[in-house]
Amino acid sequence: MTHTRIKELLNSTEYGREVIVKGWIKTFRNNQFLALNDGSCLSNIQVVVDFESTDESILKRLTTGAAVAISGTFIASLGKGQRVEVKAHQITILGDSDPEKFPLQPKKHSLEFLREIAHLRFRTNTFNAVFKVRNALSFAIHRFFNEKGFVLIHTPIITGSDAEGAGEMFKVTTLDFDKIPQNEDGSINFKEDFFGKPTNLTVSGQLEGELAALAFGNIYTFGPTFRAENSNTTRHLAEFWMIEPEMAFYELKDNMDLAEELLKYVIRYALDNCTEEIEFLKNRLLEEEKSKPQNDRSALDLVDKLNFCLDNDFERLTYTEAIDILKHSKPNQKKQFKYIIEDWGADLQSEHERYLVEKHFKKPVILTDYPAAIKAFYMRMNEPDQQGRKTVAAMDILFPGIGEIVGGAQREERYDLLTQRMTEMHIPTEEMEWFLDTRRFGSVPHAGFGLGFERLVLFVTGMTNIRDVIPFPRTPKNAEF
Ligand code: 4AD
Ligand code: MG
Repeated sequence: MTHTRIKELLNSTEYGREVIVKGWIKTFRNNQFLALNDGSCLSNIQVVVDFESTDESILKRLTTGAAVAISGTFIASLGKGQRVEVKAHQITILGDSDPEKFPLQPKKHSLEFLREIAHLRFRTNTFNAVFKVRNALSFAIHRFFNEKGFVLIHTPIITGSDAEGAGEMFKVTTLDFDKIPQNEDGSINFKEDFFGKPTNLTVSGQLEGELAALAFGNIYTFGPTFRAENSNTTRHLAEFWMIEPEMAFYELKDNMDLAEELLKYVIRYALDNCTEEIEFLKNRLLEEEKSKPQNDRSALDLVDKLNFCLDNDFERLTYTEAIDILKHSKPNQKKQFKYIIEDWGADLQSEHERYLVEKHFKKPVILTDYPAAIKAFYMRMNEPDQQGRKTVAAMDILFPGIGEIVGGAQREERYDLLTQRMTEMHIPTEEMEWFLDTRRFGSVPHAGFGLGFERLVLFVTGMTNIRDVIPFPRTPKNAEF
């Protein structure tokens, strides 16, 4: 007989059947009631142990964290608190767990503590819920694009280019230190190294995505990306996952429409398919709020927040309009912002983004047409505005509690303008001939964006630290296992 998953049993009414369940013990009370979890759902199944006929040596080993196989009869529960239970006939210990040493006790642990034992946190309800939602969102993203006929393109992880031109890259070279060819000053001689040129871990699959979009029409990537930015915040990782669709014949407005539709689709999917997990996370948040001082509490309900996002159009405005709002905002005038907005041209800090989203519009916002000077080289140059200021057809989507969740643009498809901009920004054109060929042969208007996957998971789970929504977080000074 194969074993039955606990999720299936908890939904079953086939009483009287013989079953085998396997899982990890959450608690064992009164030498009689085991709460068993196998990861298939957040709820445990109750197993009733007949302590009179069970060997004392087995009873002693039924400790929190131990793995067991139970054969027994599936019955409607005789006690209160659960609908069904398994009356055990035979208990096999698969893996012991020393109760003195197992760090996950049957009580609430802080997220900080769980981060220190990240190798075991999968066993907790919170992380079970978070990673199930992560899985559902990932599936929903693939479903959304495949329903629309987009082609998934696997872009390389090792590249020779810097897609963002920001220089925040991890270098790739061989590990064999003796064989790493060095110059006289001790620096690496890349000409002699494995790839014969400097290579790095990719910061974005966009440039390779553009090559494919200018053949397939609509493509998307979904892969890990790496940034060596030294930002130790609750929103930044050195390794994060990004979804980057790229569409030929799209202009900025089409790009915004697609991004808004994608975000609403995947949030709807999570609400419909992770009901138990989102309900659990909502209650976790409410509990957390209760422990805060009265005036720090927000009346935030996770499910309401997600539904609100689905029911409202995202606010769309230009950078110039946003600067005007920010300049005249209370925090700016009373100098409550850390960075005071004086002039057009300043980059927005996360405090400004959050003010716009959380205080001013109170909903998701799409900001467009940023100053050219603060955006990447590949963004399409707009006509200068009435004051002669240069902007590009960029779009950033800002979310409550998150800040920037999406960054995108219509691309500069005009060869001359693109190469001129690259030269101005010191991007070596000779190393990017392969990219420039798209503009030489059949160039067309096109656009795309990047959605930061962990920031999406943060929003949907209501978690507040990005380290808690990726199984193995990599941040400065932290790359355990
Ligand atoms: O705005 P970014 O840097 O844009 C790009 O990489 C473009 N090539 C995307 C494109 O147009 N195809 O990054 C896109 C998104 C951000 O909006 C943010 O959600 C996320 O990626 N992101 C990060 N997430 C976690 N940790 C970091 N260090 C991140 N940097 C960016
Ligand atoms: Mg960005």
